[in-house]
Amino acid sequence: MARKKLIAGNWKMNMTPSQAVELINTLKPLVANDEVDVLLCVPAIDIIPAVEAAKGSNIQIGAENMYFEEKGAFTGEISPAMLDDAGIKYVIIGHSERRQYFAETDETVNKKVLKAIEHGITPIICCGESLTQREQGVTIDFIRQQIKIAFLNVTAAQAASVVIAYEPIWAIGTGKVATTEQAQEVCKAIRECIAEIYDDATAAAIRIQYGGSVTAASAAELFAQADIDGGLVGGASLKEEFGKIVCYK
Ligand code: 13P
Repeated sequence: MARKKLIAGNWKMNMTPSQAVELINTLKPLVANDEVDVLLCVPAIDIIPAVEAAKGSNIQIGAENMYFEEKGAFTGEISPAMLDDAGIKYVIIGHSERRQYFAETDETVNKKVLKAIEHGITPIICCGESLTQREQGVTIDFIRQQIKIAFLNVTAAQAASVVIAYEPIWAIGTGKVATTEQAQEVCKAIRECIAEIYDDATAAAIRIQYGGSVTAASAAELFAQADIDGGLVGGASLKEEFGKIVCYK
């Protein structure tokens, strides 16, 4: 079966709750494309009003992060049960900004992935190399390691419905989108890595997104690649342009 594309926004630390509602109301008619899954991952405080605002539309709301413990003395963190109770079905895990600024590691990513799955929330696992790693020629090796650790103790059945986002760090927020060849090459390598860990059926089922300076101008060519099943969009998901990305065909 063909994989349904998942076109997701990552709002990062943008949009107050009232701005979130306004933007969702603006986007609703612009993203009405049932051929793809449409998701907006929003700041924790925006989740509840965003879910309310998105009701009756094809927009799903996701989270940008969660903690790997059930509950307790972890000031400032959001638990998987909280997300689940708010109706959240997707959570971004291990974004490079969280790795860079909040000391997340492949090990904490793996713990979060397992916890999200346990609660029926689909993790969108982020991976991606730095510019130095690309120049050193270690991109694929590095990403294979990130993937292998992220999927430790995840079963094949669970892995099939997980989402992976390949986001080269040098392409995030820089306006420097990866070429379609670069993006396809790494997404293909990620799928091959999943086939190695599990099997061909799991690799064929898993959705792999590209992220990093995706715009309305680059979306169609990127999403036409054999191993790219949609995008994780930062800056352009905060504007009406996101509608054009969702309706890329
Ligand atoms: P930009 O689209 O702003 O480059 O951000 C990409 C990203 O980090 C999505 O998670």
